[in-house]
Amino acid sequence: MTLRKEQSDTIILGIESSCDDTSAAVVKNGILLSNVTAGQAVHEAYGGVVPELASRAHQQNIVPVVDQALKQAGVAREQLSAVAVTLGPGLMGSLLVGTSFAKGMALSLGIPLIEVNHLQGHVLAHFIRKEGDDHAAPPFPYLCLLVSGGNSQIVRVDAYNKMTILGQTIDDAAGEAIDKCSKVMGLGYPGGPIIDRLARKGNPKAYAFSKPHVEGLDYSFSGLKTSFLYFLRDHVKEDPDFIEHHKEDLAASLEQTIVDILVKKLSMAVKQTGIRHVALSGGVSANTGLRNAFKARGRSGQWHIYIPEFGYTTDNAAMIAMTGYYKFGDGDFCSLDKPAYSRTVI
Ligand code: KG4
Repeated sequence: MTLRKEQSDTIILGIESSCDDTSAAVVKNGILLSNVTAGQAVHEAYGGVVPELASRAHQQNIVPVVDQALKQAGVAREQLSAVAVTLGPGLMGSLLVGTSFAKGMALSLGIPLIEVNHLQGHVLAHFIRKEGDDHAAPPFPYLCLLVSGGNSQIVRVDAYNKMTILGQTIDDAAGEAIDKCSKVMGLGYPGGPIIDRLARKGNPKAYAFSKPHVEGLDYSFSGLKTSFLYFLRDHVKEDPDFIEHHKEDLAASLEQTIVDILVKKLSMAVKQTGIRHVALSGGVSANTGLRNAFKARGRSGQWHIYIPEFGYTTDNAAMIAMTGYYKFGDGDFCSLDKPAYSRTVI
């Protein structure tokens, strides 16, 4: 492995394949030049990600996606300074496609490999910057509510490479709960965007679902999921068309309950730490109700808020390339024999 010392530009290729999105992005000197993502519609029929199908689709997508990202950026492979890749956490079969590809590329080009933790990437998505962008990135330290299909965490971020989890779910993630509730309502997959769309037309106070009583800054969403399931079962017994007739109110009430749970613990974290710069990350941060609750805190002057662009809420390689860019500056490289991992904390 050699560092391209003669080259003054730092150009990082980022690769993300931890779940069901194959994504590649190029960052040059801290500016995002391209971000190409291929989703996988194949899972819709199953109401959830099927790991075996995800790995197969990654294998089909990885070459054209990386090729497109380099072409859109106007960057040749030989100009790359390093390859950054999500090493975990995620689905092992999916991760192996991206990591093997990235390792092969780094080896053949003789450049460093940089490992990125997927969750760290989500937390640092606020630093993604395109040419001419003037949005403010959060100053350190800040709190980040990371909510996705696999995680619900409150993270204290003291530096690009210094993060502490203050609280996290003890069972289901918020996105997982939304997806499962959507499934029992007979809606499509992923449920998050569908629930969001229906919720805009419903009454958030129509129904009350159980809220967890968990100590400290931890979350729990499995009780809510069960209470939602029993609630539907009881009502469908009396009226078989209950869900169809009330789906907007059900979606709005479910969304409101989840937003209340998320924001309550986050407010506690703000009080406990005295940190008022608060950011949102992860797939569920696309949710309109959650964004509105955040914006209300921002308007009232309680918090300085940071909400990512929609394209950087769900899985993307831009956040991986950007995190890789900072790690490159620190000389934080990874050995080619380091294996992918399915579970970890930040
Ligand atoms: O971060 P992400 O793309 O994947 C990981 O889990 O890592 O997050 C996916 C999750 C899914 O549970 C999906 O239903 C949820 O984010 N999601 C939403 C919305 N868009 C995506 N949840 C609520 N409202 C949305 N608009």
